[in-house]
Amino acid sequence: MKIIISKNHAASSQAACNKIVEIINEKPDAVLCFAGGETPLEIFQNLIKMKNNDDIDLSSVHFVSLDEWGGLGYDTKGSTNQTLYDALYTPLGIDLENNVHFFDGKATDLQAESQRILTIVKELGGIDISLLGIGMNGHLGFNEPGADLELEAGIIPLDPVTKEVGKKYFDTELDLKVGITLGLKTLLASKHVILIANAEKKAEIIKATVEGEVSNAVPSSLVRNHASGYLYIDKGAAKLLGGHHENN
Ligand code: F6R
Repeated sequence: MKIIISKNHAASSQAACNKIVEIINEKPDAVLCFAGGETPLEIFQNLIKMKNNDDIDLSSVHFVSLDEWGGLGYDTKGSTNQTLYDALYTPLGIDLENNVHFFDGKATDLQAESQRILTIVKELGGIDISLLGIGMNGHLGFNEPGADLELEAGIIPLDPVTKEVGKKYFDTELDLKVGITLGLKTLLASKHVILIANAEKKAEIIKATVEGEVSNAVPSSLVRNHASGYLYIDKGAAKLLGGHHENN
């Protein structure tokens, strides 16, 4: 895994965006799996600027969904669905009908819903770029600490840390119990995995990701063994790292 440390979150988001654009330019029909949450929002804005300036052609990419809170859909502010449609797919002018494949967190059979998206991922030939925010507990998507390495897609009970941290996304208190997610097996099979994190509050989990044991106890650490894994962080998130890493 290559580690790129930038002076601030804006520079880190630009660097990660440049990497994404480089990969899409090489493969204009790339399959993209992007996290919601707060960390990627500046990357999304950068991509939208580039699209508006005609600096990138996204007409052939496909977006597949990474995750969703069980029970939520577009109508709940803070759902992954609403975040990605409003902050990314719609402003980018992506063909929502044909080129976006998203989990319905309100499906009555969430297990079947997870397999529906997994089948689409497979039909598309797998994921080219997984852009993953690192949770405070090291989760990737909703692959919580201890997640099954063999899971391709499924339903995962939310870790207490995720329930607590998740409150920041919502206006009202919600009783969230599970996440629907692509599994570690599918994410780690992506051609490129780009991890992102910022701010000092993530410094401890970044240290565990980079310098701790490679183990599903900290799912983000598993990307260290990926042939094309990247970690884009700012100085705050890098604060506890020893050793020499590329600065940007
Ligand atoms: C959201 C998602 C989560 C977040 C992670 C970091 O779709 O997949 O795994 O990426 O919890 O969240 P933020 O970026 O809000 O710190």
